[in-house]
This record gives sequence, C-alpha cells and structure tokens, in this order.
Amino acid sequence: MPSVTAKTIKAGVIGWPVEHSLSPRLHGYWLETYGIDGVYLPLPVAPPNIEDAILALPKLGFVGANVTVPHKEAAFRIVDGLSDTARKIGAVNTIVCDEDGELYGDNTDVFGFIENIRSAAPDWRADAAPALVLGAGGAARAVIAALIDAGTPEIRLANRTRERADELMTHFGGPLTIVGWEERNAAMAGAGTLVNTTTLGMIGNPPLNVHLSELNDAAVVNDIVYAPLETPLLKAA
Ligand code: ATR
Repeated sequence: MPSVTAKTIKAGVIGWPVEHSLSPRLHGYWLETYGIDGVYLPLPVAPPNIEDAILALPKLGFVGANVTVPHKEAAFRIVDGLSDTARKIGAVNTIVCDEDGELYGDNTDVFGFIENIRSAAPDWRADAAPALVLGAGGAARAVIAALIDAGTPEIRLANRTRERADELMTHFGGPLTIVGWEERNAAMAGAGTLVNTTTLGMIGNPPLNVHLSELNDAAVVNDIVYAPLETPLLKAA
C-alpha cells in the first residue's frame, strides 16, 4: 500500500463483526489499479456505538463508508438524505459524506443481488415459480425488493423472529406471505428460488438447518453468506 498522508481519501466498511468482509480487499484492489490515493478500512463498530460512529465519519474526514451486518437499518435512520432505492428497501449499505458534512444513504444490494443471480444462472426466471426467503434483516429487504422488481409471483418469508417478518409484510405487502420458521422446509414445495439472508452458516455461527428436497428441480439457491464461499447450504444444493 502506498504511504498514507493527510490528503489520502478515507473510506471503509462499518460492521460488527467486520473481519470477514471482503470489501477492504475489493476496494483496495480498485484503488491500487486506478492509482487513487485512498485507503479503505475495516471499521468494527459495536451496535451501541453505531450512531456516534456514522455521525463521526465526516468529522474525521471520511468521504463515505459501506455498512454491513447488523447496521443497515440503523444507517437508514441516521443519514440525512436517502436514494429512492434505499427508501424502498428501508436499509442503507452505502453512505456518502457530502462537502457540507451531510450524509447521503444509498443501497446497492438490489442491483448486486439480481445481477449475481443472472450472471451465475442465466436460465433463471423470477416469474416462473414462488421464492422462499429465509431471514428478515436488512439484506432480506434488498432481496425481496429485487425479487418483486424481477416479477416473482409469490415470495414466502420465514424468520426466527416473527415480528420482523410481519414488519416486512407491512412494508412490501403484495406477493409476500409469512411462514413460520419451523415450517421453512415445507415452504420449499415447488419453489424455484431459495435465498438465505440469515447469518446462519457464516464462519463462527451455527449452520443453517434445512432440507432442500421439496424445491423444484430447476431451483436456484443463493446464499448471502460468503465466508466461507461455499457454505453447507450451497454444497447441499
Ligand atoms: P442484515 O441486516 O445483514 O440482514 P441482521 O439484521 O442482523 O443482518 O439480520 C440477520 C438475520 O439472521 C435475521 O433474520 C436473524 O433472525 P432474527 O430476526 O430472528 O434475529 C437471522 N438469524 C441470526 N441468527 C439466527 C439463528 N440462530 N437462527 C435463525 N435466524 C437467525
């Protein structure tokens, strides 16, 4: 890494934990490739400190930050302005600090999610069959918004904490139906898309306990967890 000076552009990723985030490597690669005088840091911020940390970004001279688990909904509430996508989802994964120190919240998860599926599974058709989404955090909001945009006729949502699933039902309405967390295997019947948005299966967390036999034969299984890259869910799929 080139030497850091007072002029070096500062950005980073805020999460808890944050050590598994690939963002520092990803952004570091592009900074180096384009010869930009910038650093992109992992910023571990515990939940009680999230508001202080986000509000401190412009004061510390940061140009912005990405936001990951579990802070995307808190970031949504804290920033001064929102993009249409962030407003639709109710979660922020990208904060830009403008010259006046105002914070602008955006969300790139919808685009990232749908383009990843399309490039990995070109034959996948969102409108061909119901989808099952596991989890109801910030990542689930982006996945649901993307599946609705893509034309999924029915989205079954299962979350350990029922109230959070109910909140998403209120927020999105339409093609969403809530199923109990214990009913998640039965809810796979005929589904053409399964997305895990929980943190289960991530290094250091318990595995996601599911049986995939009810999914339809052409189903696409997507795991938001990428540490490890091949989760037990993807291996089973
Ligand atoms: P993000 O905003 O990135 O989605 P999050 O808000 O922390 O992160 O959401 C994590 C998801 O993983 C939630 O759906 C959570 O379920 P709860 O709403 O019941 O907390 C889910 N999750 C985490 N640990 C879990 C566990 N042991 N069993 C089932 N679900 C779990």
